[in-house]
Amino acid sequence: MLEHFLEWPSVYVWEVAVHLLAAIVLYLSALALGIVLPPGSAWTTKPGVKLFKKHCKVCHTIGRGEPKRQGPNLWGVAGRLAGAVVSFKYSDDLKDSGITWTRENLDSWLTDPKALVPGSVMLYKQKDAEIRRQIIDYVMSANQ
Ligand code: HEC
Repeated sequence: MLEHFLEWPSVYVWEVAVHLLAAIVLYLSALALGIVLPPGSAWTTKPGVKLFKKHCKVCHTIGRGEPKRQGPNLWGVAGRLAGAVVSFKYSDDLKDSGITWTRENLDSWLTDPKALVPGSVMLYKQKDAEIRRQIIDYVMSANQ
C-alpha cells in the first residue's frame, strides 16, 4: 500500500493529466475565438431567454453570426443604430429612422413598432410591460 503511494504519480496519472491539459487548452482556444460560450455566461442565463424563444425566435436569431430569419439577427443590437445589419433588407422607414436601440426605444418598439416607426414591417406587439422588460434585459445583454 505504502509503496504504491510513494510511486504516485504513476505514468498513468501523468497521461491523464496531459490529456486533460490538452482538452483545457482546446476549450480555451475555442472560447477565445468565440466558438463556444463560457458556461453560465450572463446573457444565456437571463430569465428572458425563455420569453425570447416564445415571442421572438420565430423571426429572430440572437447568437453571434447566426443567420437572419424574417427579421434580422439581434446579436449586439444594444446601442446600435436601427437598420444596421447589412445583409438584412429592412423597411426604408426603419432604415432611415435614425433610432438607436436604447432600453426606452426597444420598449416602445416592442409595445407597438408602427407607433415608433410608421412604415416598419415587424408584425409583433407586446402590451405586457413585465414581459417586455425581461425580453429587453436579455436582448440588451446579448453581446458578451
Ligand atoms: C413575425 C416576425 C417577428 C417577430 C415575432 C418579432 N420580430 Fe423583430 N423584426 C421583424 C422584422 C421583419 C424586422 C425588420 C422591420 C423593418 O425592417 O421595418 C424586425 C426588427 C426588429 C428589431 C430592429 C433590429 C435592427 O437591426 O434595427 C428589433 C430590435 C427587434 N425586431 C426585436 C424583436 C424582439 C425582441 C422580438 C420579440 C419580443 C421580436 N422582434 C419579434 C420580425 C419580427
